[in-house]
Amino acid sequence: MNEATIRIASASASRDRLGRPLRDLRISVTDRCNFRCVYCMPKEVFGNDYQFLERKALLSFEEITRLARIFREYGIEKIRLTGGEPLVRRNIEQLIAMLAAIPGLDLTLTTNGSLLQKKARALKDAGLKRVTVSLDSLDDAVFMRMNDVDFPVTRVLEGIEAAAAAGLAPVKINMVVKRGVNEHSILPMARFFRQSGHILRFIEYMDVGSTNGWRMDDVVTAREIVGMINAEMPLEPADPNYRGEVAERWRYKDGSGEIGVIASVTRAFCRDCTRARISTEGKLYTCLFATNGHDLRELLRNGASDHDIFDSISAVWSKRADRYSEIRTAETAKLEKIEMSYIGG
Ligand SMILES: C[S@@+](CC[C@H](N)C(=O)[O-])C[C@H]1O[C@@H](n2cnc3c(N)ncnc32)[C@H](O)[C@@H]1O
Ligand code: SF4
Repeated sequence: MNEATIRIASASASRDRLGRPLRDLRISVTDRCNFRCVYCMPKEVFGNDYQFLERKALLSFEEITRLARIFREYGIEKIRLTGGEPLVRRNIEQLIAMLAAIPGLDLTLTTNGSLLQKKARALKDAGLKRVTVSLDSLDDAVFMRMNDVDFPVTRVLEGIEAAAAAGLAPVKINMVVKRGVNEHSILPMARFFRQSGHILRFIEYMDVGSTNGWRMDDVVTAREIVGMINAEMPLEPADPNYRGEVAERWRYKDGSGEIGVIASVTRAFCRDCTRARISTEGKLYTCLFATNGHDLRELLRNGASDHDIFDSISAVWSKRADRYSEIRTAETAKLEKIEMSYIGG
């Protein structure tokens, strides 16, 4: 496909029905994970007999890279690899190197940190820019109850330090807060990561998927979180780094750093959402809460040209009108949705 043609197509076709451009792409590279976080892959559902996707169902590294190039032409600026746990996908650093060769892309990854100490250097050498590491508590008992595989906090902290030492910085730390489970860890986490150079972000517990039994009462709101921290360590709002930034930024008044809060339940940011997701088996989703995806793998494997695939992406994006979080109710929360480990968190 001729570059100029693509650019012209891209300029006219890249906005959805609410005027939002497509700017960032999350790619789930595996539906598997070595954790069983209670809010994401509860053991009762993702037990020993759970059928994960077969290897041949997964997009290959070549297929992912080809899609990434086409999406880049469509206007994306950033790719985040996720899953499942992206670092359990074999030779992931090869994929990073292939994606890093695409000019102008910001390349990041979200991980539970369990394999980061071992892999941080190789990931950086392959061309990864930064990482986000999930950590829900500094208290082993709480963290182990949440990851449900007895994984200790220290190993994640070692992974975070290895990432920073390798230059994958600033490291962002994601903490999902679930009422009655880890809200007592909010202040210890804030104290610990203040002045560390890492950016701690608190995420409201969401009703993704259909297996985590979400209830609104389980959500500790961004307002509560900021209030709790502000009472001990005064905060002031900071400007977003760019339009559509998901985390609201707050900085400590004494200049000792900043935190983020991702209020996807109580302060939905759908109107600025410029994100699409590709599932592990190559379906394109235009919302985390979508029920249906558009099969790109079929196109890839049935001889479609780059042009065809570009047009197909364009057709999906230009029809996009999703704003689930803005219209969420107790009723919509019960709808059958795609699991986060599959669609890519
Ligand atoms: C699905 S995980 C995938 C990447 C990697 N395994 C990890 O845990 O970082 C991506 C992010 O989604 C968050 N997450 C998972 N389920 C969630 C839920 N129900 N509500 C809010 N965040 C959730 C995780 O805490 C993590 O930060
Ligand atoms: S949040 Fe990440 S680490 Fe936890 S179960 Fe989901 S995919 Fe695995």
